Amino acid sequence: MYLDRFPRYPLTFGPTPLEPLPRLSADLGGKVEIWAKRDDCNSGLAFGGNKTRKLEYLVPDAIAQDCDTLVSIGGIQSNHTRQVAAVAAKIGMKCRLVQGSWVDWKDVTYDRVGNVLLSRVLGAQLDFSEEEFSIGVKESWEKALEQVRSEGGKPYPIPIGASDHPLGGLGYARFADELRQQESDLGFTFDFIVVCSASGSTQAGMVVGLAREGRSQSVIGIDVTASPVETRNQIRRIAENTAELLGVRHTITDADIVLDTRYAFPGYGVPSTETVNAIRRCARLEGMMTDPVYEGKSMQGMIDMVERGEFPSGSRVLYVHLGGVPALSAYSYPFLSG
Ligand SMILES: Cc1ncc(COP(=O)(O)O)c(C=O)c1O
Repeated sequence: MYLDRFPRYPLTFGPTPLEPLPRLSADLGGKVEIWAKRDDCNSGLAFGGNKTRKLEYLVPDAIAQDCDTLVSIGGIQSNHTRQVAAVAAKIGMKCRLVQGSWVDWKDVTYDRVGNVLLSRVLGAQLDFSEEEFSIGVKESWEKALEQVRSEGGKPYPIPIGASDHPLGGLGYARFADELRQQESDLGFTFDFIVVCSASGSTQAGMVVGLAREGRSQSVIGIDVTASPVETRNQIRRIAENTAELLGVRHTITDADIVLDTRYAFPGYGVPSTETVNAIRRCARLEGMMTDPVYEGKSMQGMIDMVERGEFPSGSRVLYVHLGGVPALSAYSYPFLSG
């Protein structure tokens, strides 16, 4: 297999479950069959999620370079930084995290509960930053790296979402192989794959992994950053780099990147009424939890597309659940009455 030449440090349980969502499918009119791929249940490391799958390919590089501290950056309720903290603990490295105040959300416990709480318990050192939100490299992250060096440590830099990194796309390229095997066991192929997109390497990896059989365009990314141009460019760049790294012959073009920009409103990290309704609906019909920043928005997008009839009747739609539920406790207000 083309991924076999890249060392992988196992941090996940193995192939994640595929689960039909019959009550949600019926509630949405029964014309399409909705399934979920449960990457939110992929690991025992502090609730896991999509970054844990990506980090399986970065950790061997950190170990090979003899680094002793994983250094990364995310918002205050970043799922990514929480997963980096858990992975550092698991492999016996230190962890330093820059947590940006990127989200305008007023829950009084926002910086105490959820992901940031877990990162504290996991022993990471947290630096809080007031820099503006962007998925690009941050000054405060460079500063944290420099500080580790000046204290005699050897940092391993992990960019936002473990995305804009030479190995960042490999985890979800491997996901495509895993899905292909599961589809072959089930005896059918999903017509559409709905996935949340922010820093981009989840969608980019899938696009590359599915390009070989001409299925890139079945991956529908739901933008949650509200900076779709930057997100789209990053997905494309990571996809191109990953395709080259893996020696995939298919040339990545703009047409391979399907990014739906309708659902990021009112802004990154802020759920709309529609997001909150989608979270409730999915929870009450399937017992499946989603979060207000990422998966609730991709759930909202999928529900809306089904209701608008954008998937042909009889389609099988796969919702890829990438994790993120630990952030829900930092968003208690919209759910005070259930
Ligand atoms: C739960 C969850 N879903 C989706 C995403 C988006 O993934 P990516 O950053 O690879 O685009 C993230 C992280 O940004 C996340 O934490």
